Amino acid sequence: MELTLENKTIVLGVTGGIASYKTVELVSQLKKLGANVYVVLSSSAASFVSALSLEVISCNRVFTKDSKHTVEESTVNPFLNNSYIDHIHLAQIADIILIAPATANCIGKLAHAISDDLIYDITLATKAPVVIAPAMNTNMWLHPGVQDNIKRLRDSYAYSVIQPSAGALACKTSGIGRLADLDSIISTVNKILTKKILSKYSKLQFNSKGKPQNLLDNNILISAGGTKEYLDPVRFISNDSSGEMGFALAQEALYRGANVILVSTVNYRKDPIKSALLDHPNLLLLEVNSSEEMLKAMEGNFNESIDAVIMAAAVSDYSPMKHLSKKIKKDNDTASTVTLELKENPDIIKHLSAQKSPIQITVGFSLESEDLIENARKKLIAKNLDMIIANGVDAINSKESEINIIYPKLDDPNKLEIIKLIKQDKSLSADHILDHLSLILKSKHEKHSHLINRQT
Ligand code: C5P
Repeated sequence: MELTLENKTIVLGVTGGIASYKTVELVSQLKKLGANVYVVLSSSAASFVSALSLEVISCNRVFTKDSKHTVEESTVNPFLNNSYIDHIHLAQIADIILIAPATANCIGKLAHAISDDLIYDITLATKAPVVIAPAMNTNMWLHPGVQDNIKRLRDSYAYSVIQPSAGALACKTSGIGRLADLDSIISTVNKILTKKILSKYSKLQFNSKGKPQNLLDNNILISAGGTKEYLDPVRFISNDSSGEMGFALAQEALYRGANVILVSTVNYRKDPIKSALLDHPNLLLLEVNSSEEMLKAMEGNFNESIDAVIMAAAVSDYSPMKHLSKKIKKDNDTASTVTLELKENPDIIKHLSAQKSPIQITVGFSLESEDLIENARKKLIAKNLDMIIANGVDAINSKESEINIIYPKLDDPNKLEIIKLIKQDKSLSADHILDHLSLILKSKHEKHSHLINRQT
């Protein structure tokens, strides 16, 4: 397997042991393979290895419990003032968290979710895979308490543990406990990252391991892509939409145990990676072109068994009055301008929202170039939605999006919950959307059963 860490963001936690000095070389090798490395030093590690060396090698500022800078500031622009909290931001952008060396103290804290230093905050907050490379004295390593903690990290939290190697130790003894050699740390990181990509798409890995099964057996109807409104057999009006968001939502919903009906204008089979997902037994893909076809497919599949509708499609607001069966010919005798008569298309999500039961939810998207939140809020109300996702125009045709998740607060519906997320891969944005969607569904069901109980 060719080793490359191109475009990968690695958060490297360094905890306080003599092996910490090796992390300067580790960072250097990770960088050579193309990774972007953010080093997080624990309070005790700072006395073993210099933050300055790690900053110079990683080309990023080093984070500690007391760092006041943000990830943006850490890289290029020292004047950028941004409100992200370090540990959440680092937890979100990491493709992997590597902790090397991991001391007995660090392992104990990770195993018991104790968070008294930045690296533990990040590890608790992340959804990325976590890999640790322990290093310590032999007797400490073999202590049943440490071994119990290691077992817990492996079995309960699915962390990967790179076994320490045997040899001379700093405590002037010899035995197992040395930090694994850097090559095996790097190849483990590479393997985990490769597996992470494959497991997203491989049919064999659809057991959703590691994903909360909080949509188990829920039925979700999702639309994706830009509708095409044909003037004649070859020409159409459309919106620039890749269908990535709808696909990511379908994929993440399947991982969480849902049954998904995906109504899409995009031919995902052209993409060899995506086409693997299309054979998932819990996915029904309906391919459509126009907004009229999309409306029919959405309406036809919206019944009482549907728990949630997510309208991620970019539906054309208008379509041509006439759809000609033959290609329109250019007429050289007529004037150089032509007039196209358009009619307004029905609003699909508004239409479905008007029919929903008290336990069904509808979710819309709002793409805006200005007044993002206010315009989204208006659409949330006008279309009677339970949640709206607001994003800027740069999400169009991109694999990434910077979204705001907006919905009435569950404990005070007169106020809005507004969750602003960083720019990230659409599958991560989808993951967040579905977390909130499952909360809303749960709350609706609880309120409804309360109401029924009161009436009976
Ligand atoms: O285009 P607009 O900003 O109003 O879109 C907001 C939401 O309404 C989106 O989720 C979009 O998919 C949905 N919509 C729809 N039918 C339309 C227009 C938009 O369902 N005709």
